[in-house]
Amino acid sequence: MAQNATVWLPYAQMLTAPEPLTIQSTQGTRLIVNDGLQLIDGVASWWTACHGYNHPHIINAIQVQAQKLAHVMLGGLVHPQATKLANRLVALLPSDLNHVFYSESGSVAVEVAMKMALQFWINHQEPQRQRFIYFKHGYHGDTFYTMSVSDPQDGIHPPFESILVEQYLQKLPTTDDLLETFELWIALNQQHIAGLLLEPLVQAAGGMKMHSPATLQAIVNICQRYNILVIIDEVFTGFGRTGSLFAIDQAGIVPDIFCLSKALTGGTLPLATTIATTKIYNAFLGEEIEKGLMHGTTFMGNALACAAANASLDLFETEPRLNQVADISDILKAELMNLQEVPGVLEVRVKGAIGAVQLAHPLTSTELKWFKQNFIDDGVWCRPLGDIVYTTPAFTIDKASLVTITSAMSKYIKQWSSRFFKC
Ligand SMILES: Cc1ncc(COP(=O)(O)O)c(C=O)c1O
Repeated sequence: MAQNATVWLPYAQMLTAPEPLTIQSTQGTRLIVNDGLQLIDGVASWWTACHGYNHPHIINAIQVQAQKLAHVMLGGLVHPQATKLANRLVALLPSDLNHVFYSESGSVAVEVAMKMALQFWINHQEPQRQRFIYFKHGYHGDTFYTMSVSDPQDGIHPPFESILVEQYLQKLPTTDDLLETFELWIALNQQHIAGLLLEPLVQAAGGMKMHSPATLQAIVNICQRYNILVIIDEVFTGFGRTGSLFAIDQAGIVPDIFCLSKALTGGTLPLATTIATTKIYNAFLGEEIEKGLMHGTTFMGNALACAAANASLDLFETEPRLNQVADISDILKAELMNLQEVPGVLEVRVKGAIGAVQLAHPLTSTELKWFKQNFIDDGVWCRPLGDIVYTTPAFTIDKASLVTITSAMSKYIKQWSSRFFKC
């Protein structure tokens, strides 16, 4: 019998990875470590815990739901929490984004969106439209098709580069000149293009790279002119992170397909949605079964997760989340902007509840370990990402805790600059 089970950690070289901290419980915006040590969470558990941890309203909703119905398959069945959640999400979204497909993770939500786009064209007798446009620094997940539309420079997909389906990688067109070149390129290649994928306003895993609502709007306008389906991935930005409930609200755009996950359940249970417009949905209707969307996952639309998501939406209605995001934004600006003067810091970017300090080069594993340990010693949980040190706290964080995070960021970025950075 196998002995000593190993929990195989994500994104880790297990030979050299430090022992993971064992978290016994969570409380508010804190991770409680087994030896009594508490850490203020600067990451909100990979950007999910927007209301902080253990919010009683969500916990209660999960408990009540668990007494009634924890899970039923969505094959031929549905349950009230799934229907209610679909209705509420659709009411928050523009135009006719009103067909909600459930899954359990952001990667699968995007994978489903890509399948929808490909089959949309197959059903429309344009099967040659098979490629997707994606952008430098974009990240959409770790499944094989989502890897094919994630910038290889993100450093996590290189072993598979030769296996992945080839897609169209483009520089994000942030100026008029770049937009013009982008449009010319689309005009030439449109007959092969199924759709475009974009994280709106903030490309998260690719380094918290930010662009303006005007850029987002211009890209979508071009796609609409050339009949390119627009897939907007709000897995990270959805639910307040950029200052509005959804990032698309700031640009007034209507994508064809829209993906959500992460903060959907307030960071409690895995759930994701791929939401399509009537135009997309109608392309799947017909007498033949194969014309339908032949996709499903066992736990899609799990009732506990839908109950948690409904409770999370209640909190967006009853608690001042977006005001809290605006306050966090002000504090992040006040506390981090002066780091732009530090040698080795290229830029400081703040949007909504995101504060990112761009360093001149990616951190080595030694530097990364050094940062993480110092943060822990200061009672803070932050994980620098490539060449950025960032925080994306829960929206409920109090000012003192947030300043503890930003002070640790400032202190160690300055120390890193004098200790590790060479011009
Ligand atoms: C924008 C975006 N899309 C998709 C994903 C993948 O989500 P998941 O990790 O839930 O599969 C992520 C994860 O970080 C993301 O940031």
